[in-house]
Amino acid sequence: MSEAPRSFAIRTYGCQMNEHDSERLAGMLLADGLVPADTLEDADVIVLNTCCIRENADNRFYGHLGDLKALRTAKPSLQIAVGGCLAQKDRGRIVERAGHVDVVFGTHNLASAPDLLRRAALEGPIVEVLEGPDPASAADQAPALNAVRELPFAAWMTIQTGCDNSCAFCIVPSVRGREVSRPMEDLVDEARMLADRGVLEITVLGQNVNSYGRDLTRRRPLFAELLRRLGAVDGIDRIRFTSPHPKDLRDETIAAMAETPAVCEQLHLPLQSGSDRVLAAMRRGYRAERYLERLAAARSSIDDLAVTTDIIVGFPGETEADFDDTLAVVAEAGFDSAYTFIFSPRPGTRAAQDPSLFVPDAVVQERFARLVEVVERSALRRNVDRVGRAEEVLVEGPSRKGPETVTARTRQGKPVHVAASDPALRPGALARVRITHGAPHHLLGELVEVTASPRHRVRIPVTAR
Ligand code: SF4
Ligand code: F3S
Repeated sequence: MSEAPRSFAIRTYGCQMNEHDSERLAGMLLADGLVPADTLEDADVIVLNTCCIRENADNRFYGHLGDLKALRTAKPSLQIAVGGCLAQKDRGRIVERAGHVDVVFGTHNLASAPDLLRRAALEGPIVEVLEGPDPASAADQAPALNAVRELPFAAWMTIQTGCDNSCAFCIVPSVRGREVSRPMEDLVDEARMLADRGVLEITVLGQNVNSYGRDLTRRRPLFAELLRRLGAVDGIDRIRFTSPHPKDLRDETIAAMAETPAVCEQLHLPLQSGSDRVLAAMRRGYRAERYLERLAAARSSIDDLAVTTDIIVGFPGETEADFDDTLAVVAEAGFDSAYTFIFSPRPGTRAAQDPSLFVPDAVVQERFARLVEVVERSALRRNVDRVGRAEEVLVEGPSRKGPETVTARTRQGKPVHVAASDPALRPGALARVRITHGAPHHLLGELVEVTASPRHRVRIPVTAR
């Protein structure tokens, strides 16, 4: 009788790039003969793909890692691997704190993970973290085509890793290194192959996407050209990207968005603060006025553009007046939604250096609540404004609202819950729906017509998370 294949589970702690790394890793483990485990407890291999952007991500990870000790004691053959940004940064500390870890790998050698697991089974624990991309092995270019995607018709595409900026609060440059762009031809080929497999939506990922290509040419960004090239790939109907940096949002990128039908009317433009004093301390490289000017330029060229943002509350030294400036800019910008964060000092960053500037917790909490209120008001207004329109949506799957409802997404990236009145409203189908209700975080709609059936051929199994 042949042995049952070993099973794996991956837990992901970070951003979309981190999630995409997990998808690609799942694809590599499947290719290596492993199968997805139903639960973490059933798995023979557990991979924790970590993040270090905020202290609570660190704490969550170390908590989970501690919990896995009992599992490992009960099942000595269990292999535990830790990868991602925290592993890149804290490699030694992880092994020190958790002797039950078999493999530590970093952000530059994701593609080596299956091999490291095999070697660790024979040789014992391995820590292998590269200081930067290794062009010879292209180890961080783990194959994206076989990625185990949650939605088989929507794919992420990492176009660039690292960041050349030095925002005072951010740990990413010290972890992911300098910007490295993938060659444009590789990306276009990848888009073609994804389209062949029925993918119709691509979300382009990078720390600062609009500086894409500066390292490939003599400092000339190629992002606008990339958008146009991806937009010309037959079968790719929707392109999104995250995140551009406001200081680098060039007119040519706005023009490419406006003139490329496949590029969705959605812009995630991180504001971080509305106070010029705080923006300077953050080293963001723009003032609030410049941010609003870029936003106006984008809105005037791109019809029906939805804009989302990131905002940090309680940056060291933030005064009440600074915070009022943020509220004013947020109100003026009229965001469709915002990811709001409480400042989290990251050791080694400039913003963490002077604790005497830290804003007291209670003050931060109170400001945070006020900001959320302003954001919610704006999000509600933007969504209510859509009531009565007929919009193109891509069906994602059953809705959390109940089995008779599906969730779909507009080109603006807004979730719409629609009664599943037609069996053709299947995941991957395109449809027109009329918006009947707007809430701050979602829309309700009714089906007008299904305009295209799903194109993807296979349902790819989703890995245990
Ligand atoms: Fe961090 Fe700033 Fe780079 Fe974004 S642009 S990854 S916030 S350093
Ligand atoms: Fe992403 Fe967290 Fe790394 S946000 S880039 S996984 S530090």
